[in-house]
Amino acid sequence: MLQIRWNEKYHLGIECVDEEHKQLVEVINSCFNSILHQDNVLIKASANQVIKSVHEHFASEEELMRKCSFDGLLEHMNEHQKLCLLMEDGIQQALSLKTGEEIKEFVEGMIMQFFHHIIEEDSKFLETYQQHQILSR
Ligand SMILES: [Fe+2]
Ligand SMILES: [Fe+2]
Repeated sequence: MLQIRWNEKYHLGIECVDEEHKQLVEVINSCFNSILHQDNVLIKASANQVIKSVHEHFASEEELMRKCSFDGLLEHMNEHQKLCLLMEDGIQQALSLKTGEEIKEFVEGMIMQFFHHIIEEDSKFLETYQQHQILSR
């Protein structure tokens, strides 16, 4: 079974966001497993689930950023939009791949983009979030 493991180094320290990131990795993993097993009904359902989960996560992250008056919000929303397109495109491309090895490489590449976003972009929000937590105590 194809599995990309969540790693503690991707932990931001924002509990609700970290939890959603972990769940997203699981949803992405199960989507690519269904592609690997070439089960068409499952593929369609799980691909839709990935897109739905990515959109939901981005919306809730943006909502939290808005609540904390994060000044990088617009730029972050832009990054989310790019990542959404990349993932939607990625799923389409993965469907046309033939071997398990090709799919595995492809999934790893996509998940790395997602982790890259967490480390490079989501992390920029941490300081604002922590300040907001202190001020609202
Ligand atoms: Fe984000
Ligand atoms: Fe995120």
